[in-house]
Amino acid sequence: MLREKLLNLKNEALALIQEIKDKKELEEIKIKFLGRKGKVNEYLKEIVNLSEDEKVQTGRIANDVKKAIEEALRRQNSKLETRNSKLEEEWLDISAPGIKPPQGHLHLITQAIREISSIFEKIGFVRVRYPEIEWDWYSFEGLNMPPNHPARDEWETFFINASPHSKLGKMILTPHTSSGQLREMERTKPPIRMLNIAKCDRRQSDVSHAPTFYQFEGLVIDKNISIPHLKGTLDYFAKEYFGPDRKTRIRPFHFQFTEPSFEVDITCGLCGGKGCRFCKEGWLELGGSGMVYPEVLKNGGVDPKKYTGFAFGWGVERALMMKSGLKIDDLRILYQNDLRFLNQF
Ligand code: PHE
Repeated sequence: MLREKLLNLKNEALALIQEIKDKKELEEIKIKFLGRKGKVNEYLKEIVNLSEDEKVQTGRIANDVKKAIEEALRRQNSKLETRNSKLEEEWLDISAPGIKPPQGHLHLITQAIREISSIFEKIGFVRVRYPEIEWDWYSFEGLNMPPNHPARDEWETFFINASPHSKLGKMILTPHTSSGQLREMERTKPPIRMLNIAKCDRRQSDVSHAPTFYQFEGLVIDKNISIPHLKGTLDYFAKEYFGPDRKTRIRPFHFQFTEPSFEVDITCGLCGGKGCRFCKEGWLELGGSGMVYPEVLKNGGVDPKKYTGFAFGWGVERALMMKSGLKIDDLRILYQNDLRFLNQF
């Protein structure tokens, strides 16, 4: 019977439509059932053989079948569309370039410390680090500055509220890296080529002083070490760190732990030593140096009749500012961790 055949056709179509996965398939099924040469029309060809009554009834059924198939196709179509838009939402392009996380860099003082270390390492200096909390002996008494000696005033020392050591005296915050001279002589025998870079503290805080700052200290002890060795080392460092046309000069000065003592200057980077508004006379002051005092060698267990030595000690911040030509109104900004400042280096 044509009626039954049409109803079976509907069931077949509805089952197929549920399985449709994409628009192309949907179009094919539509044509297969509802197209001009589709199955419904093909079946309807047989309608001519039916009685008038049956023709009307079967015609109605055929219409219902068409409507049911159309409706099922529409529903499946909207299902496919929502599925696609969900896929679009969840879509992830794994080949797209990532978002770069912000990248930091070493603090400019750390950069300077590393550069200074590598310059001295090239000529055989060994980088060491000595305590930031020290005994009076290493910072003062062993360096020819007994308690109450007026030279100590210059170091504006912080004292720790702790009971003093019976031989080494009071506990203090290291005010200069020269304490490393005695410590190095205790650690090892000559020949010595030490580079001690450490934090130092002094009771001072103004636009050109931070209470905590860094010094780097060189110490060379060997047989027949003399002033030209010191001068040669200073010249080498000045050229490596500040640039090939910089020169150094040493001027007489006084320290309790070196004799003779010198202040070290380098030629100004702006005028090349001629004299300008920045440097006035062509020279910039770098820091102290001198030939190690024999008594200090003795205090470190080194025989001053056999060995001589030189030492120098300068501020890392000062050297860095002189190198970069940085004119910082307040040196303490180096340690305030203001990214607007730090990001520039
Ligand atoms: N320690 C001295 C200072 O802090 C510098 C110095 C070091 C001088 C070594 C001579 C030799 O000023």
